[in-house]
Amino acid sequence: MTSVHSRQNRAATPPGPKLPAVVQTLLWAAAPVKFGKACLRRYGSLFTARILGFGDVVYICAPAGIRRILRDDAGAFDAAGANESIRFMVGEYSLLMAEGAAHTNRRKVLTRPLHGDNVAAYVEVMVSITEQEIRRWPAGRTVRLLGCFQRVTLEVMIRAVFGITGSARLNRLRELVPRLLDLNPLIILLPSARRYFGGFGPWAAFQRLLREVDRIIYAEIAERRARLRADPASAGGDVLSVLLGRDQDSENITDTELRDHLVTLLAVGQETTATQLAWFFERVLRAPGALQRVTAAVDGEDRQVLDAAIHEAIRTRPTTLDIGRIAVRPWEYDGYLFPAGTMFAVSLGLLHSSGDLHPDPEVYSMERFFPAEPPSAHFMPFGGGSHRCLGASLAMVEMRTIISTILRHVRLEAAATAPERVMAKGPMLVPRRGAEVVVTENHLLSGTTSAVPVRE
Ligand code: HEM
Repeated sequence: MTSVHSRQNRAATPPGPKLPAVVQTLLWAAAPVKFGKACLRRYGSLFTARILGFGDVVYICAPAGIRRILRDDAGAFDAAGANESIRFMVGEYSLLMAEGAAHTNRRKVLTRPLHGDNVAAYVEVMVSITEQEIRRWPAGRTVRLLGCFQRVTLEVMIRAVFGITGSARLNRLRELVPRLLDLNPLIILLPSARRYFGGFGPWAAFQRLLREVDRIIYAEIAERRARLRADPASAGGDVLSVLLGRDQDSENITDTELRDHLVTLLAVGQETTATQLAWFFERVLRAPGALQRVTAAVDGEDRQVLDAAIHEAIRTRPTTLDIGRIAVRPWEYDGYLFPAGTMFAVSLGLLHSSGDLHPDPEVYSMERFFPAEPPSAHFMPFGGGSHRCLGASLAMVEMRTIISTILRHVRLEAAATAPERVMAKGPMLVPRRGAEVVVTENHLLSGTTSAVPVRE
């Protein structure tokens, strides 16, 4: 950065499309990957987009800039402010709504139940939930994997992570949660759309659903508190039990805090994992030799290859393109002085699609990840710094387990040779046809499965 360069740009924003904000917003909402890649090609790794509801958004896609925002200068940024648009769902005690000391404290509370050792105990129930799903797939059937994985990951979340076993509550949550998470984008993007309109409209419908889900969660919390008081040995290894266990150790945690933690995990952990799994099969079934390689890795319990295949799916088909940050004080980067209040989109998706860092970026090739992994600054599937994904261990255990269970029992083919297009569905980037596959063999139904144990 030269001083002339700095002087020239101190009051300016990085270049970006000249289209009216409404057109940019439509392009961004309808085809965010295409829009982002086109801007990256044209303006480089620092550009400004104008998005209604957010204003000028500065995209950062180069490793050096991303590292400074997420790690070195993290104190100059507010992640919670960038999550403000979902506060009405996750609640004020959510980890997503905290910065600084409050964030560190809430993160500490959630770290133990989501730690690798603890989530390894969920494997058995994950296998059984996946097998239950596979039994719905007779040979010859065409299946949309995204819907299947949404069922499986929801079941993992409410049974393994929340520890809910009562069938009435389970059934009700199975029905309500998918509707709750299928948020109308209008009420996220436009605070003015959050109005009751006499009990009609998306906001009123959302509030009814949220109240019903909250009622079930609060009833579960009350029952589990009472059970734990009567019999401390009744605690399981699920997140709710571990959090209530802390309470027994006199680290008081209120019902509202517990509710906000659980709803946060649902909001950020379920659809992401389901969608990433769908993309995994969409990619692997189309890349020459990839399915054979992954199947051999599962049979040989070669975790390095399986993880490489999962990472390459995340690199080539992320479920979200970027994460938000708001500058809380002036910040200088690449010759620009950004004032406090500037909104940044830290684009991990565009970082991962850079041809300079990942040659032939469009090609799915798990070999990029072994024997050596790319530098951590070039590949950050779960973000970095103090807000790095708290569910990364759980997500990896879950994806490995579900993929391994499927490949042990079932043979799948892509329903069409053409890749599925990326479609924006709320905040998620999903395969347009839901990762459509044909089941060619199902050993679980024909009774010929080799019962290889799944280990973690
Ligand atoms: C493949 C699946 C997943 C991906 C790709 C993913 C990705 C990410 C990323 C990139 C962030 C960083 C956001 C930021 O810096 O602002 C994040 C945060 C987070 N994720 Fe995940 N995630 C996944 C699954 C999960 C699961 C299963 C859970 C838990 C059940 C979870 C819980 C969280 C939480 C609580 C945060 C907020 C952390 C904080 O602000 O301190 N995620 N995730």
